[in-house]
Amino acid sequence: MFLAVAGKGGTGKTTFIALTIKHLLAAGRRPILAVDADPNANLAQALGMEAPTSIAGIMQAVAEDREQIPLGMTKDQYVAYRLHQSLEEGQDIDLLVMGGPEGPGCYCYVNNLLRAQLQKLVSSYAHVLMDNEAGLEHLSRRTTQNVDYFFVISDATVKGIRSAARIKELAQSLKLRLGQEFLVVNRARPGDKEALLPEITKTQLPLAGTIPVDPLVAEYDLHCRPLLALPDEAPAVQAVRELLQRVGIL
Ligand SMILES: Nc1ncnc2c1ncn2[C@@H]1O[C@H](COP(=O)(O)OP(=O)(O)O)[C@@H](O)[C@H]1O
Ligand SMILES: [Mg+2]
Repeated sequence: MFLAVAGKGGTGKTTFIALTIKHLLAAGRRPILAVDADPNANLAQALGMEAPTSIAGIMQAVAEDREQIPLGMTKDQYVAYRLHQSLEEGQDIDLLVMGGPEGPGCYCYVNNLLRAQLQKLVSSYAHVLMDNEAGLEHLSRRTTQNVDYFFVISDATVKGIRSAARIKELAQSLKLRLGQEFLVVNRARPGDKEALLPEITKTQLPLAGTIPVDPLVAEYDLHCRPLLALPDEAPAVQAVRELLQRVGIL
């Protein structure tokens, strides 16, 4: 299963991925590869894992010290050789971190490396979950082949739902090969869903479910505690379980 999320910054993408992983683990579904393709990487913390050197970080280090490149190897070959450093191997989860280019750099090279890494790795895992950046700038058919589940995460505002609709359109125009696409409305208060329904319908994204405002989620985040350690009764944890059951993942 290849699952990817997209959405504006701060909508809850990382939270959703971490809680989905929590449920997959509870259901004994492993091995899992988590891919943090958000330049503002924070998935490691949500999973309680060490953050590996990012792909962008490896490139940066090689660029800054070319003397380390062995004689007879090109820079590209050497970067490819060092890519294994971008994979943190945990007990049940492995984590691959893309990182962002320093300054207004180009993503193309990092993307190509991410794609190459993914191609090499995906077949070793039962589940691959990809936390994408706010936009879809770095997504292409080539980085996200055969996505089975694509979740666009939105906050519970009209503006948020409209940007979710734009993300769906963007994904369409990029001709991404997406299996099932869904909308998730996060940080919803009672009544929000009903109020937002007209806007949600316009997106033509089926609503997978809503996730309520959950003070525990914010508290864990604030104290850098892994979301995997959230109690099963926490409202957000329960909501994500129901949502995953609804779409047939659990
Ligand atoms: N359902 C929720 N209830 C309360 N706080 C939430 C909820 N979902 C996310 N948050 C908080 O909102 C912030 C952004 O969430 P995050 O998952 O990091 O967003 P993204 O990955 O899309 O940038 C974090 O501080 C997180 O703890
Ligand atoms: Mg995030």
